[in-house]
Order: sequence, then C-alpha cells, then structure tokens
Amino acid sequence: MGRDVAGGAITRQDLEAIEVASRDEISALQLERLRWSVRHAYDNVPHYRKSFEAVGAHPDDLRTLGDLARFPLTSKTDLRENYPFGMFAVPRQQVARIHASSGTTGKPAVVGYTQRDLETWADLIARSIRAAGGRRGDVVHVAYGYGLFTGGLGAHYGAERMGCTVVPISGGQTERQVRLIEDFKPDLIMVTPSYMLAIGDEYRRLGLDPRRSSLRTGMHGAEPWTEAMRQEIERTFEMQAVDIYGLSEVMGPGVACECVETKDGLHLWEDHFYPEIIDPVTGESLPDGAYGELVFTSLTKEALPVIRYRTRDLTRLLPGTARSMRRIEKITGRSDDMLIIRGVNVFPSQIEELLLANPRLSPHYLLELHRKGHLDSLEVVVEVRPDFASADSAARAACARDLTHHIKSMIGISASVRLVDVGMIDRSMGKAVRCIDLRPKE
Ligand code: DLL
Repeated sequence: MGRDVAGGAITRQDLEAIEVASRDEISALQLERLRWSVRHAYDNVPHYRKSFEAVGAHPDDLRTLGDLARFPLTSKTDLRENYPFGMFAVPRQQVARIHASSGTTGKPAVVGYTQRDLETWADLIARSIRAAGGRRGDVVHVAYGYGLFTGGLGAHYGAERMGCTVVPISGGQTERQVRLIEDFKPDLIMVTPSYMLAIGDEYRRLGLDPRRSSLRTGMHGAEPWTEAMRQEIERTFEMQAVDIYGLSEVMGPGVACECVETKDGLHLWEDHFYPEIIDPVTGESLPDGAYGELVFTSLTKEALPVIRYRTRDLTRLLPGTARSMRRIEKITGRSDDMLIIRGVNVFPSQIEELLLANPRLSPHYLLELHRKGHLDSLEVVVEVRPDFASADSAARAACARDLTHHIKSMIGISASVRLVDVGMIDRSMGKAVRCIDLRPKE
C-alpha cells in the first residue's frame, strides 16, 4: 500500500469518485461523452465527416456504446495525410501546445492540445502517480525526454499538479542523472525501463549501490518491457516498478497506469478514453478477454479528437481490480514490431523473457535480422553480466548454445546467439532500439 506525506495508507476516500464508480455509472458517462466527441469530430474535422459519410455512419446513430463499431477506424496515415494541423477540431489559435510522434519514416504525426486538454492530461498523470504510490510532497525525477516527445512535459505537469517537487532533468547525461538522484533524493522516477537499467549500470560504474538510493517508485513506459525486466529493475533499485502507458495521438503518457498495490495490468482511464479490441487483420470488434489490437476513441479531447484510433499495440481488456475501470494486460508488442522468421511470428519481448531467465546474461540486447540466400535468419546479440565477463570461450559458447536451445524449444525458431562484453550495446536514453534489419533492400 502507498502512503501520503504524513505516512498514512491510501484509502478509497483518497480516490476520485469515478475511480470507484460502478460499471453502469462508467458506461453512462462514456455514452454521454462519446456522443459529444463523435459529433465534435464530425462537425469540425473534414476527414471525419468524409470518412463517416463514406460508410453511411452519422453521429445521431450512436444510441449505445456498441454502435461505435459502425464507425470507420482511423490510423496514423490519416494523421500524416492531414499534416500538420488538418485533424484539429478547433481553430489553431485555441491550440495551446503541439507535440509530435517521431515516426521513423515520412512525416511525423502532429498532435495538439487546448488549455483544457492540457488540464485533463495533468489530472490524469496526477491520478497515475497516485495509483503508482506517489504522494503530494514527493520529489519526482523526470528523465523522459522533454521536447516534441510527450513523455517529459506530460510527466512534468502531472507531477506538478500532484503537488510534487519536480526535477526536470530530461534524458541523457547518465552520470549527472546519478549525481542528482544522490543529491536531491527523489522518491519517484519517471523514465523508460531501458534507461532505468542504464542508470543502474552507471551507479555501479561510479562505485555506488543503486539499492541504497532514495527511490521508492519507478513509473516506466513508452516502450514494451517484460515482467522479467520489471523484476530486474525492482531488484536493482529495491523499489516498485510500475507500468505507465500512452501514445501521443491519444494524449501521451497517462492513458493507462498500473496500481502499485496489485501490479496486475494497467487501468485505463475510461472516463476519458473508450477502448476497443479489434482483430488486427479483419478490423472486426472482439469481446473483452480476447487478444487483439487496442483501439481508442477520445471522450473529452477538444483539439484533436480521435475516433476509433488504431494503436497497433497488442493486448486484451480485463475487468477492473484495484479500480473499477478496466485494465489492459501489459503490452508486450506492437503489430509492426513483430518479426516473421521463416513463418514464425516473434516479438522481441519473447526473446527478452528468455535471456533474462539466464543469470549469466544482461538485459542489454539487440536482435539482428539477416538474409542468407532466400532465408531470413535472426541473430541475438546480448551482453554478458559483469560477473560472467571473465568466463573462458568454452563457457561462453555453452551459454550461447543454451540460449539458442531455449529459443528453439520455447519460441520455435532457430536463432544464433552472439555474446558480447559489458558496454558493447548502445544504451538508449529514451526508447530502446531492440531490432535492426540488416536484410538487403528488395
Ligand atoms: O511513448 C507516451 C509515453 C511516454 C508513454 C512516457 C509512457 C511513458 P509515443 O511516442 O507516441 O508516446 O509512443 C507510443 O509507445 O503505441 C506503444 O507502442 C509504446 N508504449 C508506450 N507506453 C508503453 C508501455 C509515448 N507502457 C507507443 N508498454 C505506444 C509498452 C508502450 N509499450
């Protein structure tokens, strides 16, 4: 259980009424807000008017939440095609802030917020911090990148809203991160899980013990990470590592967050975002509990309403536990991260799970895709742990064989494994790059 500044445990009275509302109350609020949001998009964004009309859907058709399935899906391509401001539903003068998602190819997706959207965002991050066990008065170290990426500024204003003391260090300068954690003694850190581990390594390089840091809680997201990675972070820092999820197009961080008391998946803040799961191939709606692609409709956003926005993230919807709102299972992959190796679908997180189960291997790894002749092959490049660094070549070869064997028996693909020395894999300061495609371009 978390505690407030005075050290007391958090109780149901500390939560917002909607966090403990009944399913019926949540659904009623969603329907009312959904009608507003779909109408707002139709009236103010030519793209939505056109795409609704193309399938004969009209905002007046929305009588139940299920009617939303008649409306067309929206994708990142729609945002790119309307670059930069064509999807905004308010005059540009009412847009208080712009962010953009990086996008490795083509134009970035530009997102905008009215002053009221920014207020909602700060409120939802504050709610997420409380769920993670953070309290008013805590010192919060924000190591997500500041700038067009939503991580830094999103976390920042939410932590201020919560009444915390914010240290806006942003990503990078890893030695300085350690120094400031030691000097300012933060209670909570907000940073990608991969960079959290890089900060842990830096502690040891400087001869310091990360377990003795002041940190009590980490809020990690912006990239997929496994349960094994969570345990690694929790052991390294002797703190709670909590999952926070979001995406720029829907808001940024704080669309969903785990509760520290259960850590059993991320509660979706359903009073602002209506979730659906669809079959990623057919687009058909799937029931709660079924795995598929997560789709969101914003319920309150003014500047950039999104209607049935395809996230590409794969997960399933689960009932509420610590809060009434539904949960998503930890996201372990995106449909566009999936590798197909000789016909077998593989997500980087499946490999991560296996290599972290091996005490001789570190969580720093890279998947290289090669093509030999007509066949694709996968090479797993992974750093050994410092205490295995002095092992001789026979021990290393045995360790590599072991991992190859596990990958074959658990995932069903033949991968080669290359062990490299500590520090050989670049540390990311934000989202980690897990996969490089070295196949010749067609
Ligand atoms: O990454 C927002 C964010 C910042 C979330 C900080 C959490 C913490 P984008 O750059 O638009 O926004 O990337 C969104 O990142 O569709 C997922 O594929 C992935 N992602 C975000 N959070 C998680 C998570 C931010 N907790 C994309 N687990 C999303 C797995 C995540 N993947």
